[in-house]
Amino acid sequence: MAKKKFYITTPIYYPSGNWHIGHCYTTVICDALARFHKMLGEDVYFLTGTDEHGQKIEREAQKRGVTPMQFIDPLVAQLKDMWRLLDISYDRFIRTTDADHVACVQKIYQRLYDSGDIYKSEYTGYYCTPCESMWTEAQLKDGKCPDCGREVALQKEESYFFRLSKYAPRILKLYEDNPEFLQPKSRVNEMVNNFIKPGLQDLCVSRTTVKWGVPLPFDPKHYAYVWIDALSNYITALGYLSDDDALYRKFWNADLHMVGKEIVRFHAIIWPAILMALGEKVPKQVYGHGWLLIGGDKLSKSKQDAAIAQLTDPYELVKRYGADAVRYFLLREIPFGSDGEYTNEKLLLRINADLANDLGNLVSRTSAMIVQNFDGKLPARGKIEGTDGELINMANGAFETVKTAMERLNAPDALAAIFAVVARANKYIDETMPWVLAKDPQKRARLGAVLYNLAETTRICAVLLKPFLTKIPALILESFSCGADTGFDTLAFGYLKEGTPVKKLPPIFPRIDVKKELAEVAALMQKSKPKKEEKKESAAEGGQITIDEFFKTQLRVGEVIACERVKGSQKLLHETVKIGEEVRSIVSGIANYYTPEEMVGKKVVVVSNLKPAKLCGVLSEGMILCAEDKEGNLCLVSPEKPFASGGSVR
Ligand code: MSP
Repeated sequence: MAKKKFYITTPIYYPSGNWHIGHCYTTVICDALARFHKMLGEDVYFLTGTDEHGQKIEREAQKRGVTPMQFIDPLVAQLKDMWRLLDISYDRFIRTTDADHVACVQKIYQRLYDSGDIYKSEYTGYYCTPCESMWTEAQLKDGKCPDCGREVALQKEESYFFRLSKYAPRILKLYEDNPEFLQPKSRVNEMVNNFIKPGLQDLCVSRTTVKWGVPLPFDPKHYAYVWIDALSNYITALGYLSDDDALYRKFWNADLHMVGKEIVRFHAIIWPAILMALGEKVPKQVYGHGWLLIGGDKLSKSKQDAAIAQLTDPYELVKRYGADAVRYFLLREIPFGSDGEYTNEKLLLRINADLANDLGNLVSRTSAMIVQNFDGKLPARGKIEGTDGELINMANGAFETVKTAMERLNAPDALAAIFAVVARANKYIDETMPWVLAKDPQKRARLGAVLYNLAETTRICAVLLKPFLTKIPALILESFSCGADTGFDTLAFGYLKEGTPVKKLPPIFPRIDVKKELAEVAALMQKSKPKKEEKKESAAEGGQITIDEFFKTQLRVGEVIACERVKGSQKLLHETVKIGEEVRSIVSGIANYYTPEEMVGKKVVVVSNLKPAKLCGVLSEGMILCAEDKEGNLCLVSPEKPFASGGSVR
């Protein structure tokens, strides 16, 4: 019989470099699921990767004076390194810059264009660069991006559209007919009430202003919208529409797209609609998990810099506590489907209590007593007495509980079931008091039976822990002479044979002094802060800045296409400035030096990545550069010869 297949994906990550422990959440859950299904004997394909196109990357690279690839490559290497440290067992790491992905995205666009699902029109919208999302005016929240709350820029361009509206009824039906398609259930209401019921608009799926992307085959001055490019990875990775589509035929449709709740909209509305238009199957399930929070807000690198004093850097966390500790915390502590607050204290308390104390004690006491009393050879199983049956039943029944929890994707419940067995075994030690039995030669057989029961229970827990932890289970198994490949087929109590060599294990997880460690972490966080203040001071005192600091300021050539005085102000002019294809509203304090008429037609240099602000009630999306003399007179800074607007100044 053909093996059951299991195709699981993480979202593909933005190569931001600002990784925090929240980013590890999706991927660690997927890894535990992938490992669990592999141990069930299924044919598993686990996909992850990076989402590398789009305006943000284009701009970041430009700022640094490097190509987008030169900018991205080291970040992708860093991400892969993070997954290596956390023992992520992916089958493919796809990059949206991979040649096979790009070729397939072009074929997908061509198909949708040929079938009439993509058509040409004009787009006017508000673009949020960090989210790579276009919004209509009605969708904005207080004039800002409804997802991240940041400023958006008005953009108009000739674009191609995907007939998303046409698929609204089919998507509603998909939710109705397949309650499993979108989980947890609350996300279905969000999708229906916030997006589908208010009316799905056709989706703008091409850009001409952003060149770092996949050119459309039928109109190459247009580039693929990053979200279509990104979502397609789930099928391009399998060779969809390529000469070798064996993986696609074997693994599609996906069993599970695991994603954070903020990107459910893309996966549960846009993605199935694209697949329907292509005539392909939709994924079996999209699961929108919750977030790790700090102080009630989504964890993010910028918040890390604020006074949160929490260590969130995955590299540092793995260095300090090991991959198993970080994996265990993520899989055990956050109630599945909900948000969970992150603190270093919670992390330390959790790993101390479960790994160092409960599991650690069970393993070291059991192996030490066998070595001490039976010369390192497993004693015989013996008669069942007292609470033996209860322990054995619990150890035997744990797999079913774990399996049921994992079918619901609920790793915290699965781990809770395993640690309930660990706790029961520790209680069994207190009940049977093997150290008392050891003193009485008459009780030698009973001592052997107790230690056998403990060894078998410990071994079963180690096998059950294998999908979740990658180092500790192998250590435990090795101490009972079992190979690291010991699988679920050995779970029935009684697998270990009398006489099996048993080694004494040193503590499998060192107990952490929480108070001391928290103080060290606080000192570590503190150390990184003053550096920034020093930097600020040195720049303010006329000290030097690095080239990277300089390139944080984005300077562009713009052309003033309209200008008027700001009502109620002597000093301010309100200019409309065209920067390349983009048009911006800018307010400057130069009314004493230039008339509005003089300003129109002037080429100016604009600080284009300044946070927008309102001056006298008028929106200003940048700053026009001026030179200032000792008396405070101003004069515009302009390109010295005719120069196209949009160019960058460096
Ligand atoms: N590039 C898109 C996904 C495209 S998929 C076709 C993206 N990338 S991301 O790098 O921003 O996010 C990757 C994953 O990290 C997402 O699942 C996201 O939810 C997760 N997390 C980022 N911060 C998080 C927390 N604070 N908590 C839990 N997970 C969060 O989105």
